[in-house]
Amino acid sequence: MSRVACADPALAGALGLPHGQADFVLEYIDGALHLRDTRPGAPGPICADFESRVAENRRKAGRGLLLAKAIGVKPGQQLSVLDATAGLGRDSYALAALHCSVTAVERSPVVAALLRDALYRSSQDPAVARISLLLADARDQMQTARYDVVYLDPMFPDRRKSAKVKKEMQYMQELLGPEDGSDLLEPALQAATRRVVVKRPVHAPRLPSAAQPAHVHKGKSVRFDVYLP
Ligand SMILES: C[S@@+](CC[C@H](N)C(=O)[O-])C[C@H]1O[C@@H](n2cnc3c(N)ncnc32)[C@H](O)[C@@H]1O
Repeated sequence: MSRVACADPALAGALGLPHGQADFVLEYIDGALHLRDTRPGAPGPICADFESRVAENRRKAGRGLLLAKAIGVKPGQQLSVLDATAGLGRDSYALAALHCSVTAVERSPVVAALLRDALYRSSQDPAVARISLLLADARDQMQTARYDVVYLDPMFPDRRKSAKVKKEMQYMQELLGPEDGSDLLEPALQAATRRVVVKRPVHAPRLPSAAQPAHVHKGKSVRFDVYLP
């Protein structure tokens, strides 16, 4: 049995995934594409969503967000940002709401399908119009294009099974397996003209690099390490 399948044969054909049962199933629930872990005891399904309360609160927080400070957003400026680890697009959306022009790169076809669906559902939102999604490996993209800012939010291996590990993160860890982003900072420093911003859990070690962060913005649970290329 394959790891991910689609409940709907047309969707399976469109995404190049098998049709039928699997540990993870992609299916539409209330008009939104969801990923559901079908195994006993698994948390409920996840989707990407720019219309949630959390997304709205982040949009309202604007330049007060720690992320905005780390990126260095200034009024009247439209920075080009490469979100090299787009995931479910929450940070891409927060950056686009700050008037950044965002290239969101995601290498997992399943995660990219969830994100593409949310972009489609919210296509009337002017912030969403500032996001372009690429299904690609960001390391390739960073070799060929330059951006004002490269933003990295790689997964951090967290073995806690408790509710503290958010549902989305549990899915990502289960689905994508071990990855730590240790190969992203060096190419990011080559691709960014102004800064590279790395999101980390507040007590996690830095991403490996000879470069030192020029400054660090610390919150309660996360911090942003800012590198100047
Ligand atoms: C922790 S999640 C990012 C969450 C995201 N910041 C958000 O706001 O939803 C990390 C994501 O980066 C993706 N990723 C990791 N390495 C990548 C690479 N080299 N190129 C593109 N995507 C990558 C993973 O597939 C995963 O979906």
